Amino acid sequence: MVQSTVTHSSSVVLTLRNNLEYLELSHKGARLELRLQGAHITSYKPFGGTELLWVSSIAHLQQGKAIRGGIPICWPWFGAHWISPEQGPQHGFARASEFKVISQHANEDRACVVLGLVSAPKPYDTVAMQVEIELSDQLSVQVRTTNKGKEPIEIGAALHTYFQISDTNQVNIPELKDLQYKDKTQDFEKFTQSDSIEINQEIDRVYLDPPKKVNLLDLGLERRIEINTWGNTDLVVWNPWVVNAKSMTDFDNEGYQSMLCIEPANALGNRVLLNPEEEHLLGKSICLVDASDNNYIGVTI
Ligand code: BG6
Repeated sequence: MVQSTVTHSSSVVLTLRNNLEYLELSHKGARLELRLQGAHITSYKPFGGTELLWVSSIAHLQQGKAIRGGIPICWPWFGAHWISPEQGPQHGFARASEFKVISQHANEDRACVVLGLVSAPKPYDTVAMQVEIELSDQLSVQVRTTNKGKEPIEIGAALHTYFQISDTNQVNIPELKDLQYKDKTQDFEKFTQSDSIEINQEIDRVYLDPPKKVNLLDLGLERRIEINTWGNTDLVVWNPWVVNAKSMTDFDNEGYQSMLCIEPANALGNRVLLNPEEEHLLGKSICLVDASDNNYIGVTI
C-alpha cells in the first residue's frame, strides 16, 4: 500500500476510482493525475488550473485497457511490432500493464514518483523499465530502460502525448518546418515539411531527427507549450481526423478537433539496441509558458 507523502507545498496521494489505482501529485497549485496501470498520466494542470492534456470523454477506464488520451507510454515497441502483429499489441504491452510504486517524494521544490513495470513477457522479462515522473513548475516524464539480461535487445518507445488544443486550425509547431518526415498515410513515403504543418486531414507523421525543443502554439487559447525531449530519434505528430475517430470505439466523434498528439519516439527502424547492462532514457518536459511571454503569439498559422 502506498502511503501519502505531503509537505507544505507538495503531495503525492493514492486514490481509488472504479477500482483502479490513481496517484495525485500536487505542487504549489499545479496538479497531476496518473493511473498506476500503464504509468499513464491522465491530467496535468500547471499552476492556474488550465488542463493541458486531452482525454476522450468515452475512453475505456477498465483494467487491462489503455486510456484514449493523456500520456500513454508505448513500450517496448512503437506502432505494430516490426516482426509481426502476433508478437504483441500495437504500441507494445506497457500501456495496459501493471506498474508499482518504487519511490515517491514531495518537498518544497517538487513532487515525484518512480513507477516500475511489474512483469513482462519474454524476451522483455530481463529488461527493467521504470517511469520517472516529476511535477515542479513543469511536468517531466522519463522512461528508463535497462537491459539486465545477457543478450542485446531492441527497444522502441514513445511518450504518446495527447494535447488539448482550441481547434486544429488554430495551432502550429514552427520547429517542424524543413524537417523530413515519413508519412504513414502514404505508405511511409518521405517528405519535407515545406511550411507550417496544417491539420486539416488525417495526420500521421514520423518527423526524423527533430530539434530537442519544440513549441505548440495555440492562437485560440493564446498559449504556448514548450516541449523539451531527450533520448528520441523521432517526433510523431498524429490526428486521426473524422473517419478514423469514428472508427475507434473509445474516441468521441468530435474530439479530433480539440486534440493533437506530439510524441517523442524511437519509432519505425529507429529502435535502440541495448547491450547487457546498458540503459536508455527517453523523456520529455512540458511547460506552459506565461501568456505574457508572447514572442510566439502572432506567428501566422
Ligand atoms: C499514433 C500512430 O502514434 O498512435 C498512429 O502514429 C496510431 O498510427 C495512433 O493510429 C493511435 O494508436 P492506438 O493504438 O492508440 O489506437
